[in-house]
Amino acid sequence: MLIILNNKCNFTLNQFKQYSQELTTIKTQHELVLCPTNIYLSITPKSEIVLGAQDISMYHEGSKTGEVAAKQLKSMNVEYVIVGHSERRLYLNENDKQITEKLRRSLEQDIIPILCVGETIGDYQQVVSKQLEILKNIEHFENVIIAYEPVWAIGSGKTPTIKQINEVISFIKKIYPQNKVIYGGSINEFNISNLKSNLIDGYLLGGLSLNSERLKAFLENLE
Ligand code: PGA
Repeated sequence: MLIILNNKCNFTLNQFKQYSQELTTIKTQHELVLCPTNIYLSITPKSEIVLGAQDISMYHEGSKTGEVAAKQLKSMNVEYVIVGHSERRLYLNENDKQITEKLRRSLEQDIIPILCVGETIGDYQQVVSKQLEILKNIEHFENVIIAYEPVWAIGSGKTPTIKQINEVISFIKKIYPQNKVIYGGSINEFNISNLKSNLIDGYLLGGLSLNSERLKAFLENLE
């Protein structure tokens, strides 16, 4: 399974050094992908943990002040990138056009994009199918990993039931049968026991990713 650790905008330098050292002691059969704040990519200790980024520029490298381009991430050995996270859609007004370009830039450099989709409230079908429509404009869209993250579940301590998650993932897989689909939103070391299913290809962890001991407990309960 694919386990994405989304550190978001957390950790000072010393905190990150300690945390990332702790992560190197984790032994697991699952693929762990650490997405630190970009400035820490180069000091992440070498281990079995794969590197990911939390965002990517929609532009190619060059005169784009403040941006980090796909080619630069690739040169840092970044293998995955989160695209279209609901926090970026909300706080940075990221739109489908930008998200489409970001998916293209990632795939051009063989960085696997993790496209986040999910409803704010109410019915998921319309929102999720609309958010996924951009895949129709992407060459090799089958290489995009889809992360179903209901916005109301992110950081709230609330999760859908496994029945609800399975329903949404089946819905997504019916439209995009070739794509991997993972779940994210308030997953922790306790609720994981009730949130496993054969349909889920992995999990995207926010808050839980920040604590290596809790992460170890999560991985044990995932086995
Ligand atoms: P959470 O975040 O696990 O803290 O709910 C998930 C996410 O935002 O990807």
